[in-house]
Amino acid sequence: MDANLLAAVPNANVALGLAATAIALYSLYSYLLPKPIPGIPYNAAAAKNLLGDAPDMFRSVIVTKEIMAWMAEQSRKLNAPLCQVFVRPFARPWLLLADWHEAQDVLLRRGKDFDRSAFSSDLLAPAGAFHIRFKTGDQWRAARKWLTDLMSPNFLNNVAGPAIYARTQDLVGLWQLKEKLAEGDTFSAKEDIDHVALDGILAFIFGEKLNISATRAQIETLQRCELRLDIGRSLEEKYTSFPHGCLHEFLQAASQGTAVIEQIINSPMPNWTFWWMKKTGSYKDTMCTKDVYVRKQVRESVARMYSSEPGEASQIRSAVDHIVRRERMLAEKQDRQPDFDGQQLIDEIFGNVVAAHDTTSSNLIWILKYLTDMPHVQDKVRTALHKAYPEAASEGRQPTAAELVQAKVPYLDAVVEEALRLSPISVTREALHDTELLGHHIPKGTVVFLLANGASFLDPAFPISEKQRSASSQAASPNTWDESVDLRAFYPERWLRNDESGNVVFDPTAGPQLAFGMGSRGCFGKKLAYLEARIIVTMIAWNFELLPVDKELSGYGATDGIAHRATQCYVKIKSIRR
Ligand code: HEM
Ligand SMILES: *[C@@H]1O[C@H](CO)[C@@H](O)[C@H](O)[C@H]1NC(C)=O
Ligand SMILES: *[C@@H]1O[C@H](CO)[C@@H](O)[C@H](O)[C@H]1NC(C)=O
Repeated sequence: MDANLLAAVPNANVALGLAATAIALYSLYSYLLPKPIPGIPYNAAAAKNLLGDAPDMFRSVIVTKEIMAWMAEQSRKLNAPLCQVFVRPFARPWLLLADWHEAQDVLLRRGKDFDRSAFSSDLLAPAGAFHIRFKTGDQWRAARKWLTDLMSPNFLNNVAGPAIYARTQDLVGLWQLKEKLAEGDTFSAKEDIDHVALDGILAFIFGEKLNISATRAQIETLQRCELRLDIGRSLEEKYTSFPHGCLHEFLQAASQGTAVIEQIINSPMPNWTFWWMKKTGSYKDTMCTKDVYVRKQVRESVARMYSSEPGEASQIRSAVDHIVRRERMLAEKQDRQPDFDGQQLIDEIFGNVVAAHDTTSSNLIWILKYLTDMPHVQDKVRTALHKAYPEAASEGRQPTAAELVQAKVPYLDAVVEEALRLSPISVTREALHDTELLGHHIPKGTVVFLLANGASFLDPAFPISEKQRSASSQAASPNTWDESVDLRAFYPERWLRNDESGNVVFDPTAGPQLAFGMGSRGCFGKKLAYLEARIIVTMIAWNFELLPVDKELSGYGATDGIAHRATQCYVKIKSIRR
């Protein structure tokens, strides 16, 4: 008894200590639990888990690799146009907005409330001082001044278009070779499309004279294996595989630039991944290689500029030629020395390569898949092309670059648009100050995903009462279409309508589309992307029939990174003889 009493004194202290620890731990635990924004639906179980929704998300993403699909699923499950998820431990929730009308309002009319997010800038950290990472302000505006001329119809139609066209001829040559070597068998088109997209964008950036080409490297490799010695088709494979060409170090660096960003985007802790990555030799090599090469191109362009007459437009053969002229003009205006060597200029140029490459190649890959799997769409594209280029068709030749950039082919535009619609990456914005969205209070710094694959895009819109919407949203009249046409189906006709004189025209405003974002921070290169897609798809459809491929090689799985990229893209081609 006595012993027990004696023992009880220190026990009481221990108990007090334990209780204090428990309270402290519990407070810490509560402090670390996800903090929902009041009034916005969330997954209740996730709010009681220190890791929030992250375990569920990673379980799903490990299988599907499609984080955007997981987001859309949360919005469906919570059945709300605005909901929240807790993905980054101990951080603010992410908001998911699934409504075209309100997303358009945020992007077009609420730039004072919502801007480029720090979240997406962190994911694009390797792009350095590329303007995509800046908030809308002086630094952003200064970078955009360099790019002023790049999307002008004159430059696109007379310089960039023909340069991309020339690169596309290489792809046609490569595929003629592949058709012969594979004896008409199926092969993967992914790398070829990736290469031609890269070649095309580099021809735009550095000019048609650029003497490195991923596609030509591939052709050279294949020309060396005429006897099918190196060409593989194992028993279990349903396709022929080819040896890979050896790419110029800058082409490798350009592809690597995309790969490092994908790695960061897919990391649970992007900042840590980037920190670690920066210390690796391969990252340093990639960065060094691209900087050296871009600087060399800039210097050559500067030398050409100073050796030509001022204002001599014919000298302008590339985006870089335009950029250095702008830098010279800006320097004169601001009474400073031009800085052609600065890292910001180099980052801007390379940033455009990365922003353009993976996105345009992904788009092309989806288009090829749809054309392969839907022969009636392919037939319609070819018929439309023959109608658009009657001389080329009757003379048994290819349409020329000049014909291509001039022609209007509404059905082809609709195919490109429809492929973009079905494979978007959702853009994000960050609240610049405390504000409101659909009647809810949104704290400063909150990241909002504008879902491009949820309600009112791929599912019917949520009913939302007008008074929940912002004043500017209520004042606007959004475009909506007939939602009873299956929104998940590939149906290019939804982008076509008859004009006053009864002609079929392409209508890019026919319905919801967020593939390029919108507003002043929407995609800068949209016009170039359409031009490139038109040229490459035309040349492929003109020269080759895309025959059906085995079901097993035609899945619709994808990975989300810079773009929503199809995992499989196999083709079985047959040259069209004219
Ligand atoms: C199919 C091809 C493409 C797709 C789907 C695409 C998509 C996008 C998206 C979703 C954004 C963010 C928009 C936003 O936040 O509202 C963006 C931004 C951007 N894109 Fe594209 N893009 C494509 C091609 C290109 C090309 C060819 C270029 C360059 C020549 C380019 C240059 C840019 C730039 C510079 C930005 C940043 C704009 C800014 O922050 O002010 N993109 N793109
Ligand atoms: C490309 O041209 C440059 C000169 O502008 C030359 O130094 C280089 O060796 C050439 N590269 C190839 C792969 O032909
Ligand atoms: C990530 O790093 C950048 C730059 O080092 C910093 O500005 C940003 O706040 C960091 N983001 C997070 C979420 O810690």
